[in-house]
Amino acid sequence: MKVIRTISELRQELSILRETGKKIGFVPTMGALHQGHASLVKRAVEENDVAVVSVFVNPTQFNDMNDLKNYPRDLQADCKLLETIGASIVFAPEVEEMYPEPDTRTFGFAPLDTVMEGACRPGHFNGVAQIVSKLFYAVEPDRAYFGEKDFQQLAIIRAMVKQLNIDVEIIGCPIVRESDGLALSSRNMLLTSEERQRALTISRTLFASVEYAATHTLAETKSYVEEAINATEGLQLEYFQIVDGDSLQEVAKWEDSNYLVGCIALFCGKIRLIDNIKYKEVK
Ligand code: PAF
Repeated sequence: MKVIRTISELRQELSILRETGKKIGFVPTMGALHQGHASLVKRAVEENDVAVVSVFVNPTQFNDMNDLKNYPRDLQADCKLLETIGASIVFAPEVEEMYPEPDTRTFGFAPLDTVMEGACRPGHFNGVAQIVSKLFYAVEPDRAYFGEKDFQQLAIIRAMVKQLNIDVEIIGCPIVRESDGLALSSRNMLLTSEERQRALTISRTLFASVEYAATHTLAETKSYVEEAINATEGLQLEYFQIVDGDSLQEVAKWEDSNYLVGCIALFCGKIRLIDNIKYKEVK
């Protein structure tokens, strides 16, 4: 496994592989890797000849400077994990390498980016589009893998590659959970053990809401989740919305869409967590 720090070296390395017909799978990450990332990398390894993983904490997608400062970083541990699961290249640039000039591009993916995370974290998806497009230009992958935990991000990346005519297949991968249900997140390591216990209410409530939904209206199910979160000390709900899985717009009734996802964001103490659950997915 090679650890590469510059775009020029990365391009050189990948052009040799591409010339010999190798397919390139790419997993962009911000490091602090866990088994959720590992599941994406394993899939990239299985489905491609070469798996490239980027590890870069992207400053332009943080709208809270404390969050950026506290974001966990451990490149050594990340490389150790990536080596064991068969990644070929780790791309770990410095900020100056990715942003030699300030990125003044402004993206727009309305209405996908005006709701939920887009409404709560102004500029977040613009920063995500800036860095992911730069990474796609540098890696030129055949396939790129993203977790469904960041459900809205996945929809926006799909929209971005269409908008920019980037020739890459975007593959969404299911949420990986701890055995007790907590969705894996790099931020989980910032939770105290008491907060982690409280955070379990999120997945438990979402799972219970799927059963509840079978005999209740969409509005009742929404209230059920909101009330359960609000009743838990130490959790502060930002939003819970049941949206159409493609347009990400809220729907009023179960019959309004064949693809319905409940998306939640909340603070557990000072740590912001997101999760989601599918109520309906008719393909
Ligand atoms: O999902 C993430 O970890 C980040 O948003 C991404 C896609 C690596 C861009 O920085």
